[in-house]
Amino acid sequence: MKSYHLTPGTSPEELTVGEHHEPEPGPGQVLVRVRASALSFRELAVLAGRYPLPIRPGVVPVCAGAGEVVAVGEGVDRVAPGDRVAATVFPRWIDGPFAMENAAQLGSSLDGMLTELALLDANGLVRIPEHLSYEEAAALPLTAVTAWNALMGSGRALQAGETVLTLGSGAVSLFAVQFAKLAGARVIATTSDEAKAVRLKELGADEVINYAGTPDWPEAVRELTEGRGADRVVDVVGSLEQSLRAVAFAGEVAFVGYGLAAPAVQPPTLGTLFMSVASLRAVAVGSRAHFTAMNRAITTHRMRPVIDRVFPFGEAAAAYRHHEAGRFFGQVIINHG
Ligand SMILES: NC(=O)c1ccc[n+]([C@@H]2O[C@H](COP(=O)([O-])OP(=O)(O)OC[C@H]3O[C@@H](n4cnc5c(N)ncnc54)[C@H](OP(=O)(O)O)[C@@H]3O)[C@@H](O)[C@H]2O)c1
Repeated sequence: MKSYHLTPGTSPEELTVGEHHEPEPGPGQVLVRVRASALSFRELAVLAGRYPLPIRPGVVPVCAGAGEVVAVGEGVDRVAPGDRVAATVFPRWIDGPFAMENAAQLGSSLDGMLTELALLDANGLVRIPEHLSYEEAAALPLTAVTAWNALMGSGRALQAGETVLTLGSGAVSLFAVQFAKLAGARVIATTSDEAKAVRLKELGADEVINYAGTPDWPEAVRELTEGRGADRVVDVVGSLEQSLRAVAFAGEVAFVGYGLAAPAVQPPTLGTLFMSVASLRAVAVGSRAHFTAMNRAITTHRMRPVIDRVFPFGEAAAAYRHHEAGRFFGQVIINHG
């Protein structure tokens, strides 16, 4: 069986392909035939060696994927051969708050999903919604779980009628738009691209602001909300000063990332932070419990992830380059056959 391997700080063309014997699952392990995996900003950062968590040289990349159980090891009763599953990004984080002992992550410190067969911890698997293809389900483990946690994972989950602000049309933000609409919220989205604005509206966004043409987009959010601001902001950019100016008094900012616009983004001023009376919560993907709760909502509403383009397994480098070029709307998927 074949697996891709990466060295941090290299380019997509320097990914190598290794030929390996088919692994046998040990106690508590599951062998999964990976059918599809998903790229996102995180995979570019891992390959470039610009990722905040440790990366093991030679690791199998990509933390998000879905496939079919082939064999289970001793003591495994959570899943059985033939089950359609996805792996959680933090296989040891089952429920409750995030803890450092659960920080081992697929596709950086642990071997990931850009492989034909993956040997995975049984506790880190969830069944995928029946109405989704493997390509669609591969989009869920990272970007969807993060968006779900950003909106639902604080002490107080998103309520119907609240206003959610999403930034840009990247993969996390598209899921945030979809989940916010499922929950009955109003969505204000931003993008730099007029064609993507149309697609954001088709996906459910109520209003779209062009952040390139409207540099003071926090003020535009206030104008759209009778001066109140958005109850929640899903900040994937790290533009916390602006997010805190756009959030309603005592609202919530989910701080998801800061790599997209680095190093241009600056820390917020203490005055803005204090006077917002907002909660600022850093989000680290989510637990298995977040993933299963999210899957129930996706199943109930027969929601489908937005897929931009699918590449064959042999063309992983081209898939990375396509994502890097930035002209996508939805998730870039690799089909493993
Ligand atoms: N904390 C976590 O657990 C976690 C999990 C997943 C991802 N992340 C982080 O979340 C961020 C988003 O990840 P992703 O995979 O969704 O990214 P992505 O799909 O690569 O997002 C690309 C999009 O980001 C938007 N963007 C870029 N610069 C922007 C800016 N200055 N203002 C507003 N939007 C901007 C652009 O949207 P338009 O083209 O519409 O302008 C661009 O198309 C990354 O920083 C990633 O590292 C964190």
